[in-house]
Amino acid sequence: TTVEWDAEAAEKGGYPHFMLKEIYEQPEAFQRSLLGRVRAGQLYLSELEALQRSGALEKVRRMIIVACGTSYHAGLVGKYVIERWARLPVEVITAGEFRYADPLVGPDTLCVAVTQSGETADVLVSTRQAREQGAPVVAITNVVASAVTRLADAVLYIQAGPEICVVATKTFIATLAQLYLLGLFLGLQRGTLHPERAAEILQALEQLPAQIQRILDRAAAADDPIAPLARELAPLHSVMFIGRGVGYPTALEGALKLKEVSYIHAEGFPAGELKHGSIALLDPQTPLVAIATASHVYEKVVSNMQQVRARDARVIAVATEGDEAIREHADVVLYVPPTLEELSPVLAAIPLQLLAYHAAVARGCNVDQPRNLAKSVTVE
Ligand code: G6P
Repeated sequence: TTVEWDAEAAEKGGYPHFMLKEIYEQPEAFQRSLLGRVRAGQLYLSELEALQRSGALEKVRRMIIVACGTSYHAGLVGKYVIERWARLPVEVITAGEFRYADPLVGPDTLCVAVTQSGETADVLVSTRQAREQGAPVVAITNVVASAVTRLADAVLYIQAGPEICVVATKTFIATLAQLYLLGLFLGLQRGTLHPERAAEILQALEQLPAQIQRILDRAAAADDPIAPLARELAPLHSVMFIGRGVGYPTALEGALKLKEVSYIHAEGFPAGELKHGSIALLDPQTPLVAIATASHVYEKVVSNMQQVRARDARVIAVATEGDEAIREHADVVLYVPPTLEELSPVLAAIPLQLLAYHAAVARGCNVDQPRNLAKSVTVE
């Protein structure tokens, strides 16, 4: 007898697609991204020590984060937490814009280049430009010895393991981990973050892998709402995503995932902008996904959801476990475990990835290699 052996099926480890495999690898990927850096509420970021000893960080008064695609969305979350913890003004700019913007960058500007592949052409050109203007450079990347590392004074490796699917899932949350660690490091160095608060944040970070696992276990259960919801969205033409604070980049990433793999038009925007245009598009065929996890802007997001429901559009909420009241304002609720507001994108991203995945499968799309997309864009 012969045994059928399919190398690709073996690599997928029983999953029908790399995307699903990589979504399910996220507890481990996130854990790995903290490895050697966080232990029992303490931060060890030796990668940044040389830069600190050189005195370059003391001169830093502002930060720019340059990135593209999913990495750009991670950067937007990074801005929020770095401004909050390190009290440094942060500008996040897509690399394709930065390089042509005649940017105001010098030795007082820390340039953080975020690129999981380390090879995205626009990010490399932007980083080189910032470096030539005297900015110290920190690279955040998943690929050891990739091109961006050669332009950097310090490298924070994402440590997520290889990602085969073109669209980013586990590298997104592991990139977030690096931005959190950078924010904590700078906050502690600058004395803007109390060590006790930092310890609380670090402990919350260490709980995330188990919490991600909980979302994934529930998603695999027969009565989980995500796959049926995805099948409902599959025939539609357009889905809107809203959020506020760190929920805003989460909405952008949810929309990007859906459009990349299912080709359904999806748009993410700040919840407060809804009434300034996009609300005109909402109807029973155009649902809205609201990122409504626990936060200081929760009530504001709920009031945006109410406005939408008054227009007969279906509302899907991503909310925090225990929030039963949200059911009154949403047709479907996707629950995630409670965590700190700043860390909530790591958990809220998971049901949105699964929603995009199942919608793409329902539409018969090539999940791992969507049309017209490449894993790393090395041309300008
Ligand atoms: C491509 C990929 C995206 C990715 C973007 C940035 O467009 O399809 O998934 O987010 O590049 O990639 P990088 O490797 O720089 O993070």
